[in-house]
Amino acid sequence: MSDDDARAPLLPYEWPGSYVLGDEEVAAVSDVLRARSLFRFYGHDLQHYADRFEAAYRLRLGRRHCLAVNSGTSALAIAMGMLDVGPGDEVLVPGYLWVSCLAAVVRAGAIPRLVDIDDTFTMDPDDLARKITARTKAVLVVHMSGATGHLDRIVAVARERGVPIVEDVAQANGGTFRGEPLGSFGDVAIFSFQYNKAITAGEGGLVACDDTALYRRAFALHDLGYPRDDDGRLDTDDASAQGWGMGARMSEPTAAVLTVQETKLDALVERLRALHARLAGGLASLSSATLRATADPAGGNGSFVIVTWPDAASCREIVARTRRAGVRPGPDGLNNVAFEDWGLHLYHHNVGLVEKRGTSTRGYPWTDPANAFARGYAYGRGSLPRADDLFARSSLLAVPPSLTEDQADTVVEAFAEAARSLGSA
Ligand SMILES: Cc1ncc(COP(=O)(O)O)c(C=O)c1O
Repeated sequence: MSDDDARAPLLPYEWPGSYVLGDEEVAAVSDVLRARSLFRFYGHDLQHYADRFEAAYRLRLGRRHCLAVNSGTSALAIAMGMLDVGPGDEVLVPGYLWVSCLAAVVRAGAIPRLVDIDDTFTMDPDDLARKITARTKAVLVVHMSGATGHLDRIVAVARERGVPIVEDVAQANGGTFRGEPLGSFGDVAIFSFQYNKAITAGEGGLVACDDTALYRRAFALHDLGYPRDDDGRLDTDDASAQGWGMGARMSEPTAAVLTVQETKLDALVERLRALHARLAGGLASLSSATLRATADPAGGNGSFVIVTWPDAASCREIVARTRRAGVRPGPDGLNNVAFEDWGLHLYHHNVGLVEKRGTSTRGYPWTDPANAFARGYAYGRGSLPRADDLFARSSLLAVPPSLTEDQADTVVEAFAEAARSLGSA
């Protein structure tokens, strides 16, 4: 889209955690550097930031085990390994997701099966109930764009069928469902601390669970393939915990930043929620705008506002006009976009999935005889009717925590003006 002849961008960049980075993070990283102890398991004078960060998340989520890792993508791959996902298995994934969700399943040798979304923009529990079968090894629930959907019903469907849930909280850190933290519902939960996320160290991830056997497998997978004892020595005797390690440990400098960022998460979410309420409240007054539905209005972390417009043409035009009016960030940001420009979040934009590309040129896992059941599966546009309709007509606004109330009102006014000029306010 060309923003030529447009007004200057009025949106600050959308990377929330970056705005609360301060001297405390600098001091924590300096601790690690001065101690010359950058590795989490040993060093000249270990500062134990990775341990501290895991302890903070155990408390925050009320979970028995948390494991710091180097990314959300690694955390998802580890989650598949924890649940023994492999050839012959299917993992149910929603049509609105991130490419890493698909990568985790395919790299495990299993088949992703798409579940449609509903107007919460997350997995539709009715379509889940239709698609869950004896082949379903896990249900990957993804709390997209800051919030979850009908999580109670999704959990009920999976529990009734005895299928474990992996909860992907990468985009909804700090969010809740009916007062309980997101990340406390799945058998396994994963987080990301990549730069776009609520709190950040540039990169980083976390795996949470309650089951100790699952945790030992996660630990082995994120490290060298074996659990460690309390002194950090490898335990090669426990075959049930052994896996093939992926070297996905979190470094101490990363953990130092995140240990401080974690203490700022609640205030950050409070700010995002207030701005979200202001933006969503203003936009909801436009007769042509339908705000994303929610099963728990108080629960989102406030980081995104999603609006659905009457049709694809008006959606595109409203985004184009508001962008020209300045509702866009600087050149490095991606904000105020039509869903069709929202990249690999849309199932059918994942060309590797649509074309069933494998982990090598041999095409595995699609070519594995154990996965022959999936030969007829299709992943192109048209596979999920509800998602396709919502994607075609919806736009997304990330909420930068440094947005002022006045700027938020200007954003709403720009949308109102664009809708009015299209005759659909
Ligand atoms: C829903 C979702 N899951 C997983 C990830 C992967 O996280 P990371 O970027 O830390 O690998 C992301 C983030 O990009 C995400 O948005």
